[in-house]
Amino acid sequence: MSRVLGIETSCDETGVAVIEGGRRVLINEVASQIDVHKEFGGVVPEIASRQHTGVISQLARRALEVAGGNVDAVAATNGPGLMGSLLVGVCFGKALAYARNVPFIPVHHIEGHIFSAFLAEPAPAFPFLALVVSGGHTQIIDCPRTHAYRILGTTRDDAVGECFDKVARLLGLPYPGGPSIQRAAEDGNPEAVAFPRAMRDAEHLDFSYSGLKTAVLYELRGGNQHSTADLAASFQAAAVDILLIKTKQALAATGATQLVLAGGVAANHLLRDRLQAELDAAVFLPPFEYCIDNGAMIAAAGASRLERGLVGDLGSTPNPSLSLEG
Ligand code: KG4
Ligand code: ZN
Repeated sequence: MSRVLGIETSCDETGVAVIEGGRRVLINEVASQIDVHKEFGGVVPEIASRQHTGVISQLARRALEVAGGNVDAVAATNGPGLMGSLLVGVCFGKALAYARNVPFIPVHHIEGHIFSAFLAEPAPAFPFLALVVSGGHTQIIDCPRTHAYRILGTTRDDAVGECFDKVARLLGLPYPGGPSIQRAAEDGNPEAVAFPRAMRDAEHLDFSYSGLKTAVLYELRGGNQHSTADLAASFQAAAVDILLIKTKQALAATGATQLVLAGGVAANHLLRDRLQAELDAAVFLPPFEYCIDNGAMIAAAGASRLERGLVGDLGSTPNPSLSLEG
């Protein structure tokens, strides 16, 4: 059974993992930089790449030890993401592949997120729709067959995770905003403030999240009487509601019967619960540890590419604005 080492360094998590047989995770190491970026309220690119450089060798050494020193390929995220951070993972991955004389496989970050669904039981089968929700993306993607993608809807401004992060900052809650808002919302009333659901009746499947952030800002400026818990709960309800509305529209428009949820925001309990309860489709949720950026999801996508001979070479370079549709 082939073993693939996966490297993820597109943003603020350094992830190195080894998986076997495309699905079994032998080791999944994630070094989070949250504490370093916290004081700035967001990711500082130059600091991020230095942090990746500082920890990647150590993580890879541990991963290789667990794999008995043997891997059949090395996969790394080659975009989209922060250029300096991507370079660390791609250069390290190529050097490792060269030293071990195995193929190097560049992987699109979003393809990695989608493949996190294959690390759980039961796994989806193509074709399916994917709802990818992270700090950089909010997309509904048609996945007709392995490694083929068509983006049906995307955000026209902020990503939903970015909106969680910005609203948390407005509410004085710590970075990253998603988990902080989820925690604060536990004691709040989701109906306290009727925040807008942008583009809910539009014909297209695109999203817009900048208006929601502004609505929270105006609420705070306009003599707001509500508790932080009520604001967090009302914001979270609106942010999740629009994801449900658009996903239902996409399922109806395509006739798809399976939905894969992926990306950091896929860790959100309200979103997970509502998708499972309300959709007329089989819903595949990645385990929590594979929602946030990690190496296992990159290794899973890499293993599938290896099986099909879709490998790169030592000339592969990262692309910060890499397209998924190719
Ligand atoms: O996928 P990810 O780790 O990095 C990107 O590719 O962007 O996603 C990070 C995003 C952050 O915006 C974070 O606030 C959000 O995922 N997030 C959440 C939750 N956990 C993480 N958003 C809502 N609820 C959560 N529980
Ligand atoms: Zn991500």
